[in-house]
Order: sequence, then structure tokens, then C-alpha cells
Amino acid sequence: MSAAPESDIPRARRVGPQGVRVRVARARAQAEKSVARLVAGELVARPSLVLGLPTGGTPAGVYRELVRLHREEHLSFGGASTFNVDEYLGLRADHPASFRAEMERALFDHVDVRAERVHFPDVDGGVETAHESAARYESAIAAAGGIDLLLLGVGRNGHVGFNEPGSPRDSRTRLVELHADTRRDAVRAFGGLARVPTHAITMGIATLCDARRIVVLAFGAAKRDVVQRMLLDPIDAATPVTFVRAHSNVEVWLDEEAAAGLSEPP
Ligand code: GLP
Repeated sequence: MSAAPESDIPRARRVGPQGVRVRVARARAQAEKSVARLVAGELVARPSLVLGLPTGGTPAGVYRELVRLHREEHLSFGGASTFNVDEYLGLRADHPASFRAEMERALFDHVDVRAERVHFPDVDGGVETAHESAARYESAIAAAGGIDLLLLGVGRNGHVGFNEPGSPRDSRTRLVELHADTRRDAVRAFGGLARVPTHAITMGIATLCDARRIVVLAFGAAKRDVVQRMLLDPIDAATPVTFVRAHSNVEVWLDEEAAAGLSEPP
């Protein structure tokens, strides 16, 4: 696999009180390609890599590029394990709006990842089994040796995974109720608000922050406000994604539209 030309990688600048490393790409596609290369580089260096993965619109281009690298440049996921950060409660795995189905369409069906190494919280049993299922997910992550590389998107209300505002720093994988804004953002995938699940199982903030390396992605003008809050607001449960700023190996990748509200120039 060829390495990314250095000139294509946006340089890192330090933003906010913690001096978080932020990379602003001229265009979203540039960031997607660079982040896919970053994932690929880690996979090549450590074929048994444990990946933490988000769904949503944000990572779609990264997954497309990873599929391309698999097809055209022989990038292999054959030794890797994956843990998705969250899943809607009560959906069957084959429900087209489940995060599992979304990940299969975007990535897993097109690369050589082994089915038994792909993990989602078990949501079939609904509320009754959610607590055991959450505990099992934590154990499975630990048994895999912990997450090496975690990609994250961010919700417009500052949620990360499905850790809605109010989620504490020490939270672990658990049953959560979805915020009204989050449910509204999911209407299109479900074809109506009444069909959007009310609950989910998500990795907690502490679970996410246990990952060895975190890459947060945010693209487009709709993420401008939350990007400012993520990097500049006090680290607090009011904006759960602020907690990742305290991580020792975190990087934030933006396009110019998402970065436009940051005061320091790119
Ligand atoms: C969703 C997911 C998150 C995701 C976020 C942003 O509800 N649970 O993991 O990062 O919201 O979604 P999008 O990338 O579509 O803006």
C-alpha cells in the first residue's frame, strides 16, 4: 500500500485550553482520504488492530476510501476486530436502519473483516436484557485487549456515541434514552419520528476515553457550532464530547466549513 503524500495531510494546529491537535482539510474529501490512510497505516503496523467505529453520515467517506484501499491496494482487515460505539435498542440486526446494517452496507460487506470479530451491543432483547448486554460489551472490549484506534463523529447537541448531554465522565456502556433532537436527526433513516427508537445502548464516556488513540471527525456547516463547543467550552457533561479533550492522544479532523467558527486562523 502506498503512503499518503505528505502534502495531502493538513498540518496540525493546537486549539483551545488543552491545545488539542486539530487538522483542517481544504475539502472534506481530503480529510476522508487522509483519515482512511491513517487507519490503513495502523492496520498495516498492527494487523490485529481493535477498531472502535461510529455510524452516521460523517464517517461514510472514510469507509468508502477504506473499501477502495482494500480493493485496489490490498489493505486487509483479516486480523482486525471492530466494536461499534452504539446501537438502537430493540431493532433486529437486519433492520435496515440498524447501525449494524448501516456498517455492513458501508464497510463490512466489502472488506475481509471476519464476522466473528465484528461487534455491536446486543439489542435484540430490549430493555429487559440491556444491562447484561452492556456489561457483556464491556467484557468483550476488554477481552479483545481494548480499543486501539477509535473514530468518532459528534452529534449537533454535543453527544458522542449516544452519550447525550448530562452523560458523566465515568459512564460506561449502558442503556440510554435518546434526546428529542437526536431522534429528530434520525427521522429520515426510519421514515417517521414515531418509528425512531427511544433508547439505545452506547459505549460510555469512560469506555470511549479508554481507547489508545481517538480521531474525532466533523464536517460541514451544520457542525460549526458544536465544533466550537467541543474545543472551547468548559469540559463538562453539558457537552459530552468535550470530555475527549482530556485524552492524551486525540486529534480532531475538520473541513473548512466545520472549522469556520474557530477564532484562530487555519
Ligand atoms: C448519531 C450516532 C453518533 C454519530 C452522531 C452524528 O446519532 N449515534 O455515533 O456520531 O449521531 O451523526 P452524523 O455523522 O450523521 O452527523
